[in-house]
Amino acid sequence: MELIDTHCHLNDEQFADDLPQVVQRAVSAGVTGLINIGYDLDSSREAIEQAGLYPGLKAAVGIHPHDAVTATEAALEELAQLAAAESVVAIGEIGLDYYYDNSPREVQRLAFRKQLELAKKLCLPVVIHSRDAAQDTLEILKEFAPLRGIMHCFSGSFETAQICIDMGLYIAFGGAITFKNANRLRGVAAKVPLERIVLETDCPYLSPEPYRGRRNEPAYLVYTLAKLAELKGISEAEAAEITTANAKAVFGL
Ligand code: NI
Repeated sequence: MELIDTHCHLNDEQFADDLPQVVQRAVSAGVTGLINIGYDLDSSREAIEQAGLYPGLKAAVGIHPHDAVTATEAALEELAQLAAAESVVAIGEIGLDYYYDNSPREVQRLAFRKQLELAKKLCLPVVIHSRDAAQDTLEILKEFAPLRGIMHCFSGSFETAQICIDMGLYIAFGGAITFKNANRLRGVAAKVPLERIVLETDCPYLSPEPYRGRRNEPAYLVYTLAKLAELKGISEAEAAEITTANAKAVFGL
């Protein structure tokens, strides 16, 4: 079995002490592909550096909506330079977060558009973060459609998922589909066609059951895979094969 964790933050300081072991456990669990996602310039640089440590480790570079205020012209220029590194397979994570509103919404929208432009220019896929901002996210994405990329940590409605799929995007589900109180999300995951689903951990956050509340890591992707297979009524091997093929298609692996 071969799995790809399409969204991990091994660049997070929570992995500073045991990164080699974390990667080893991932590989042992079958998670041989890891997309290490940047959220600002420093973490994007770190993702590129770490990509040299293991062949299955790739990087995405981007400025998260939380940090949209830092997405100055100079920062975006530096991001474009980072994106030229060989290990970079996507621009992300980028998007809108109206739940925390850490950056003003107008600034978030501008940074989102600028980075979508960059992705288009470089022919790279995008990894999109959208929280409590579905309407504005869809409006901006429509300006750039068709798009290659992923709706990360999807928590929206099936209708929103369908609009994203129609624009060319894939829908990522993570540990949240294993949570006891996540019946609505499981209903959405059951309806989205498997041909458009990818798996992710978003580690160190959002550990699946039975590790909820503890540090997440890529090896735990197997619990999310098991839940997805159950929702679809298929074997884990089949769910792995299709979601891995999807991830490869998105990132050009
Ligand atoms: Ni993330």
